[in-house]
This record gives sequence, structure tokens and C-alpha cells, in this order.
Amino acid sequence: FLWGVGSSAYQTEGAWDKDGKGPSIWDAFTHGKGKVLGNETGDSACDGYYRVKDDIQLLKELKVNHYLLSISWPRIMPTGIKAEQLNEKGIQFYNDTINSLLENNITPIVSLYHWDLPQVLQEKYGGWQNISMINYFNDYANLCFEKFGDRVKHWITFSNPWAVAEKGYETGEHAPGLKLGGCGAYKAAHHIIKTHAKVWHSYNSTWRREQRGMVGISLTSGWGEPVDPHSQTDRDAAERYIQFHLGWFANPIYRGDYPEVMKNYVGRKSAQQGLGTSRLPTFSVQEKTYIKGTSDFLGIGHFTTRYVLQKNFPFLQVSSYHTDHDLAELVDPNWPAPGPKWLYSVPWGFRRLLNFIKTQYGNPLIYVTENGMSETVQCPQLCDEWRIQYLKGYINEILKALNDGVNVKGYTAWSLLDKFEWNKGFSERFGLYHIDFKNKNKPRYPKASVDYYKKIISANGFPNPREVENWHQKAMDTCSATQQHLAADSLITHMEMVTEIVLPTVFTLCILISIVLLIFYLRNHS
Ligand SMILES: *[C@@H]1O[C@H](CO)[C@@H](O)[C@H](O)[C@H]1NC(C)=O
Ligand SMILES: *[C@@H]1O[C@H](CO)[C@@H](O)[C@H](O)[C@H]1NC(C)=O
Repeated sequence: FLWGVGSSAYQTEGAWDKDGKGPSIWDAFTHGKGKVLGNETGDSACDGYYRVKDDIQLLKELKVNHYLLSISWPRIMPTGIKAEQLNEKGIQFYNDTINSLLENNITPIVSLYHWDLPQVLQEKYGGWQNISMINYFNDYANLCFEKFGDRVKHWITFSNPWAVAEKGYETGEHAPGLKLGGCGAYKAAHHIIKTHAKVWHSYNSTWRREQRGMVGISLTSGWGEPVDPHSQTDRDAAERYIQFHLGWFANPIYRGDYPEVMKNYVGRKSAQQGLGTSRLPTFSVQEKTYIKGTSDFLGIGHFTTRYVLQKNFPFLQVSSYHTDHDLAELVDPNWPAPGPKWLYSVPWGFRRLLNFIKTQYGNPLIYVTENGMSETVQCPQLCDEWRIQYLKGYINEILKALNDGVNVKGYTAWSLLDKFEWNKGFSERFGLYHIDFKNKNKPRYPKASVDYYKKIISANGFPNPREVENWHQKAMDTCSATQQHLAADSLITHMEMVTEIVLPTVFTLCILISIVLLIFYLRNHS
């Protein structure tokens, strides 16, 4: 079983316009005011671009087997188009990162796309609305296989394409910020699925024999539990919840087409709206065959669970992905939600999701690619008791799923560092390590969960309750000490300000006053 942590390029690297990097849709999005909480940007983020060595030390400290990172497409192809320009410095950066990881016995798991599409492709072609993305992305993926594939054996084509489609092209909460209700997300997803398949085939025919790696996709989905498990309509609604999230992408890849319920519901709604064809695009017979079976493993991101019930939306002129599935979501107020309002800790939901995957998609090889808890507290709080409870609960349910026969081979805690959290800016923090973003050095401080997760990794799970309780206690003790450190460090930062600005000012003022007094004195005595 492999233990690791993850991150993504735009959220951590910073250096958004350095060393020849081209702008991404996230650079454009965050630079347009009013899109992100507090108008924050990832311009410098964690300064990860300059801190690779330091961050690898943190990974060594955790003793992880793997590190999941993403490559920024415009950092190595500034316009996104291979024929136009390659950025050697960007390629060098990822070469150095990969080499340093391997020198430290950390396996890199590399995602080709964690949301930072080159801005040129958005402006010229409309990004994922345009079918031409398939070839541009395939060229980019092949370049990555060529440059890094001798050392990288685990490739993820897309990280959480659901969010790319739904938040980028339906609600517009994320870059490129388009609100193409009821159509845009389906179209974007359609092109992404085809792109994924094309990249898998490229690897399969060109690189696999020589490089012997794996290519998969990372899908993020919550679990939907029927409010009343005895009600058939609730059970059907819960099924639709999963199919419209996970099934939307997993079903074509594992079974050759969109889920039946998705085709039925979107098709019927489109007809009611007087449209001649469904807003959900269709795959041709050849495409279905081409797409089916194009994942060597399935990456799963999972954070939380919802209760689901049937809800009929009245006939709507305005079409939307969110009314297509005729359901409503509820939460149990007793579920712990120590962080942001959406993230309830419901560990048992993960075991059910993993078992669903096992039965629906033929028990594929699974790596958990994202799982974790965030906090929204204003003051730094390194004693993250809630994250410890979350990790303990969720990892325990994954191990139960393993016992159920689910083929899950690895776990990736999300995430290594506090980082730029998309439209939430720096207000939401997923890191095992805290970052003081106000300090220009961006110092990293371990939270209690670092200590705790490290113990889980060393023991390869949970040995016995007493020992696990011990870990918890130790982690809480250590973090109190670090917390004092952090307080002292911010004090020092203040004192530096005092020595650099306040002291010279006071000193100068004293001299001026003395001179004035002296002049007075001399005048009075002459
Ligand atoms: C963000 O920018 C918008 C538009 O310029 C402005 O109205 C808003 O006050 C800014 N918010 C903050 C927190 O600076
Ligand atoms: C895709 O890009 C081409 C070339 O710029 C353009 O002609 C076409 O209209 C675009 N299609 C969409 C759906 O935007």
C-alpha cells in the first residue's frame, strides 16, 4: 500500500510569469478583479517554484512513498501549441523536480492537467468548448511522455474534470468563468473524455513498450446516500447523484458510454425545452469503442457525503446541469463540519463509494488521489485535531474497503501545503503544513496532522487503539510547541519591521529635535 501527499501547480508554484512561462486561464481569471475572495491571486502562492528542495525535505520528513504533482501546461508550452514554442526552462524545472524526488526515493505521480489551461487556447478557441483542444493537449501529453516518461511511471491525464466542466463552464465560479448553463459543462466534459482517451491511446501505442508506465484519470466525487433507504425514489435519486458526478466520466471510460440515467434525464429535459437534440452530446459507435478501457488505474478524489432525495424541478426555460438530475441534497446536522460549510466528515461514505466503483467498473485498480479536510480559521491553528480525526476516520474506511475486496493500492492526503484555494483565495487551507502567506519568505510550519500521518505511514495503518491514541497525544503536544514557535516568528517579523523602519525613524527624529533644541539654547544664550 502506497502512502503519499499531493499538490497542484497553479495552487503552489507561483512564479506565474517567470522564466518564460505563458499565462494560464487562472492567471487571467485571478487578475480580473472580483472573481476570487479578497481579489487574491496565485501569482506567488507558496513560491513552490523556488522551494523544491525545501518541500522535498518536508516529504522526506513525512516518509511518503509518493508525491502527486501537476505540470503547468503553459510553463512548458507558453501558448499551449507545440509547434509555436517550447520553454526549455520550464522543462528543466520539472526535470529537476522529478530527479530530486527520485533521488529521495519518492515516486512522482504526475497529473498533466490540474486546471491551468494556456490562456491563448482559451482566447483563440474557447478552451474546452472547442474540439481542437484534443490535438493540442495530445501534443502536450506526448511531449511530457517524451521528456519525463523515462522516470515518471504514473500519469494522470486530468485531475477532477468534473470541476473543470461544472465550475468553469456552468457556474463560472472557476476559470475561464463562463456561465453556459445546461450546455457548456456537457460539451467541455465531452471533449475532455475524448482527449483523455486519445492520450491513453498515444501512450499505449507509442510509449508503453519502452516506458512501462500507467495512464489513468483522477475523478472526484462525493457519495450520495438515499435519505430513506427503503424508498425506491430516494434510492434512484441517490444513484443519479453518483452517475451525474462520477459516472459522467467513469462510465464512458469503463463501460463505453454516458450512464443511461444521464442520457434519459438530459434527453427528456432537452425535449421539454423544445430542443431538437439532447444537450448531452453523444458518442459515435467508433468513439465508444475507442474510449472504453482507456484507464490503467482510476484516481479517486473524495471529500464528503450528502443525503439525497427526489426533487422535481418545474419546467424551466433556463437549462442547467443542476436541475437536470431532479434531486435535492441534505446533510445531517450531526455530521462534524469543523472546516468550511460544504466539507462534512462522513467517513463511511467513502467505503460505499469505493464499493460502488468496484461493482460498477469491474474492480479497477484505484489510487486515492485526493482526500483531506480544510480549515477556514483566521488565526493560524497548528493543533488541527479535526484533521487528525478526519484522516483517521477516512483512512480506516479505505482499509475496510480493501477488506471488502476493493482494489485500492494507494492513498494521497490532500494536501502537502496550505495553498491558493481557487475562488476561495488563501482563506481555505488544506495543508498538512501551515504557510504564513503574509511573510515574504512563506515559511512552512507542521500542523499536528504531520506528526500523526507520519505515524500512520510508518505503521502502514493502525496497529492498536492504545498506540493510535498515543500518536494523537504526542501530535498535540508537539504542535503546541510549534505553535509557540510560530507566534515567536511572527513577533520577530514584527521586530524586524521595528528595527528596519521604526528605529531609524525615531533615531532621525531624536537628532532633529536635539538640533532644534540646541539652536534654541544657543539663541537664548547669545
Ligand atoms: C476586489 O475588486 C473589486 C473590483 O475592483 C472591488 O470592488 C472590491 O472591493 C475588491 N475587493 C477587495 C477585498 O479588495
Ligand atoms: C473552434 O476554433 C475554431 C478555430 O478558431 C473556430 O473556427 C471555431 O468556431 C471554434 N469552435 C467553437 C465551438 O468555438
